[in-house]
Amino acid sequence: MSYFKQKVIWITGATSGIGEALAKELANYKPVLILSARRTIILQEVAEECTKKGADCLVVPLDVSDASQITEAANTIYEQHPHIDILINNAGISQRSYAKDTALEVDRKIMEVNFFGNIALTKVVLPKMLQQNAGQIVVMSSVVGHFGFKSRSAYAASKHALHGFYETLYIENQHNNLKVNIICPGRIQTNISVHSLQQDGKEHGKMDPYQAKGMPADVFAKRALKAIERNKRVANIGNWDIWMIYCKRYVPWLFYLITKRIKDK
Ligand SMILES: NC(=O)c1ccc[n+]([C@@H]2O[C@H](COP(=O)([O-])OP(=O)(O)OC[C@H]3O[C@@H](n4cnc5c(N)ncnc54)[C@H](OP(=O)(O)O)[C@@H]3O)[C@@H](O)[C@H]2O)c1
Repeated sequence: MSYFKQKVIWITGATSGIGEALAKELANYKPVLILSARRTIILQEVAEECTKKGADCLVVPLDVSDASQITEAANTIYEQHPHIDILINNAGISQRSYAKDTALEVDRKIMEVNFFGNIALTKVVLPKMLQQNAGQIVVMSSVVGHFGFKSRSAYAASKHALHGFYETLYIENQHNNLKVNIICPGRIQTNISVHSLQQDGKEHGKMDPYQAKGMPADVFAKRALKAIERNKRVANIGNWDIWMIYCKRYVPWLFYLITKRIKDK
C-alpha cells in the first residue's frame, strides 16, 4: 500500500487497541505518523516501535475533550509539517450502563470525547485541507452508528451524531477534493470494554467475553487501511456482528427480536 508512503497521518487514540494497531500497520509503509492520546509514555513506546519499522514519528499528547489542547496540538504539528494528509479520528470511549441509570454528566462526557472532540479535531485540520484542495478525514464510528444497542445509549448517540456530521461534511465538499471515510467496526479485540464508562462515570474495568472473541485488532487494521486507500464512504468491518446492520435495515422485526434476547451489558 504505497498509498500511505510519506503521507503525514495524524492518529488519535494511538495508545491502545485500534489506534495502536493502525499506527503499527501504517508504520510498514514509512509515513510520517503523528500519534495522539492522553498517556504520553505509552505513546512514546508505540512511536519507538513504529520508528523501528521505518515511520517518522511525532508524539503529540492530547485530551480530545479539551478544545485548547486541540488547538495547541495542531500548532505543534504545523510547526513541523506544513500539511496533514490524513486525519484518523479514532479516540473514543464506550459505555456499559442502561439509559435509565446513567448520570447525565456521563452522557455528556461520552459525547464530549466521541463527538465534540472528534469534530473539533476535524475543524482544526479542515481549513488547510480545503486550501490545498487535498485531504482525507477518517472517522472511527461503530456498528452502533447504524443501530441502538443495550447499555450503549450515549455511545450509540455519539456515533449516530458522527454519521450526521460527516455525511454532511462530505456533501458540502463534494466539489473539493476532500475525502471523508466513516469506518464502522464490529467487535474488535481491544480494551474498549475495560475503559468503558458505567452509570456513575467509573471505568467498567472488565474485558467482556464477546469483546475478547472479536476480530483481532491487527486484522481489523489491515482491512481498515484498505478501505481508507479505496476511499470507501462507509466501511463496515468485523465478524458476524456486521450482519446486524443489514438485519436492522432489511428484516427489522428479526433485529428487534435478537436485541430483546441479548443479555449483554
Ligand atoms: N473495539 C471495538 O469493538 C470497537 C467497536 C466499534 C467502534 N470502536 C471505536 O474504535 C475507537 C478506538 O477504540 P478501541 O477499541 O481501540 O478502544 P481502546 O483500546 O479503549 O482505545 C481507546 C483509545 O482512545 C484514547 N482516548 C480515550 N479518551 C481520550 C481522550 N479524552 N483524549 C484522547 N484520547 C482518548 C485512549 O487513549 P488514552 O487513554 O491514552 O487517552 C485509547 O488510545 C473508538 O472510537 C471506539 O468507539 C471500537
